[in-house]
Amino acid sequence: MDIDNHLELTQVGMKFPTPKGDFVALTDVNLRIKKGEFISLIGHSGCGKSTVLNVVAGLYKATDGGVILDNTEVNEPGPERAVVFQNHSLLPWLSVYKNVELAVKQTRQGRNKAEMRAWVEHNLELVHMTHAKDKLPSEISGGMKQRVGIARALAMEPKVLLMDEPFGALDALTRAHLQDSLMEIHAELGNTVIMITHDVDEAVLLSDRIVMMTNGPSATIGEILDVDLPRPRNRITLADDPAYNHCRHEVLSFLYEKQRKVENVADHQKKRESATEEKAKDASSAA
Ligand SMILES: Nc1ncnc2c1ncn2[C@@H]1O[C@H](COP(=O)(O)OP(=O)(O)OP(=O)(O)O)[C@@H](O)[C@H]1O
Ligand SMILES: [Mg+2]
Repeated sequence: MDIDNHLELTQVGMKFPTPKGDFVALTDVNLRIKKGEFISLIGHSGCGKSTVLNVVAGLYKATDGGVILDNTEVNEPGPERAVVFQNHSLLPWLSVYKNVELAVKQTRQGRNKAEMRAWVEHNLELVHMTHAKDKLPSEISGGMKQRVGIARALAMEPKVLLMDEPFGALDALTRAHLQDSLMEIHAELGNTVIMITHDVDEAVLLSDRIVMMTNGPSATIGEILDVDLPRPRNRITLADDPAYNHCRHEVLSFLYEKQRKVENVADHQKKRESATEEKAKDASSAA
């Protein structure tokens, strides 16, 4: 197997049908990802990051081009591509343990009971959640739920871990803690990861490459930054590292200089138009 062509997105395009005609969300998205690479997708809100992730997950079918994982075309969701969403989607009536067990049962046949238990417990251990394994999702914090979501995804032994703003809803400290856990897990398991984030520091800290997307419609990959920082990485020492700060600067300059959000102008225009319409209506009803 060619490890350089582990996961390939080729000419991926996505058009969504809308009442006003097709909306072209993505065009010509080309990306080759190596086995074990940690990729971040960053770009302004609405540019198409989740659409890219959903195409790789097989939840959306690209309207142009396609995705190949280890020489097999992606056409539907599969256990080799596990997804972690921002809103930890645990089943509320099942304990932490049972939530993870369910995923294992769905994907791994042929384990006996003892092996199954050991595997579930091993994955809960990876995210430091063994102590709460018998609790219900309602009894644990948001950060803990997110850990369980990650354990559940890892327990499926996916080739590719797809994460859509996995830490977006968490406070800064919990977030830092989970980033560190994710770095440890990635070092240990070597899964290929695609993670969407809005956080520039998070992207630089975790990634091997940062894929920066242009604003939509017809969004595509604008630039790709190689993050050549040695691992393991430490957030404190990196804060003063010129190479780290150079990476941050590159991403910030892409987002806030090269791809400055133009939507505000369009929004402003829309607001002005609707205000004019309102005035016209008021004038005609007053007449
Ligand atoms: N099912 C759909 N039908 C029509 N348009 C859609 C659909 N899904 C997404 N879009 C549009 O495609 C564009 C990209 O959406 P997407 O959710 O991928 O953005 P995103 O980069 O993940 O944004 P955010 O950072 O806010 O999560 C947006 O303009 C969105 O409105
Ligand atoms: Mg999104």
